[in-house]
Amino acid sequence: MIKSYFQRFFIKKQGLNKRKFILLNEAPFQLEEAYKALRTNLQFVCADKNIKKILITSSAPGEGKSTITINLAIALAQVGHKVIIVDADMRKPKIHNYLKIQNFPGLTNVIAKTNTLEESIQYVTELGISAITCGPVPPNPAELIETKAMENILKELSEKYDFILIDSPPASFITDASVLSKHADGVLMVFLHGSITFEIAELTIKNLKSAGANILGGILNNVDTEKTGRYNYYRNYNYYRYYAAYYESEEPNNVGRKKR
Ligand SMILES: Nc1ncnc2c1ncn2[C@@H]1O[C@H](COP(=O)(O)OP(=O)(O)OP(=O)(O)O)[C@@H](O)[C@H]1O
Ligand SMILES: [Mg+2]
Repeated sequence: MIKSYFQRFFIKKQGLNKRKFILLNEAPFQLEEAYKALRTNLQFVCADKNIKKILITSSAPGEGKSTITINLAIALAQVGHKVIIVDADMRKPKIHNYLKIQNFPGLTNVIAKTNTLEESIQYVTELGISAITCGPVPPNPAELIETKAMENILKELSEKYDFILIDSPPASFITDASVLSKHADGVLMVFLHGSITFEIAELTIKNLKSAGANILGGILNNVDTEKTGRYNYYRNYNYYRYYAAYYESEEPNNVGRKKR
């Protein structure tokens, strides 16, 4: 089990280079330490097993998948690994926004063969990581994800990179993450503290496993250790309502997040 506990802190809108997410190399000490621990655990899990293609998913929307994908990529790159992020969230892609890079050409362009894989890779010099953004959002994400082209892209990347971190939509109700998990060597689950019930988390893991996923571990996100003497992870925050809201909302970022 890979665990990581993040201290909650606030980002001023005008701060952090106007980025909307927490960037590891600008983060407070505790956050940096948490990612270091996550990196070390992951290195242990992946060593010898040739685990390179790692899918990051969660049960519900807004649990921190994209943020953790980027920060884990930075943490791995900081110790010399060659890392690429693949934005396979073809429902609500965010990587290009968070990294402030262009979204074209992206993954969907490569799958559709309108662009080459090389053309779609962007290197973010300041962070030392590469990324393939989603590209234009397709009408049929599930079908694109299931293609041989998608599998081949990940295979080709695994020949050139030490770690391929695949961002994805939430795993419940949408099959994308389950399908992607078949192309990945392992899956990291993100759980937003206080956001979903234990039963829902368990069900998501069970469904992923029955699709053939190799679950590497879970990351407990946004634990306020000052407030929480012990983890009240079992509280129900009307998960299904949040989930519905995710697909109705234009601004999904904070949907599903617990207000403190
Ligand atoms: N540990 C944390 N502390 C504070 N804010 C966080 C933390 N983790 C994520 N966030 C914030 O929560 C919001 C949602 O995060 P993110 O976009 O990474 O979630 P997601 O799971 O990828 O969402 P989606 O399901 O919509 O793809 C972002 O604004 C991000 O900055
Ligand atoms: Mg996301």
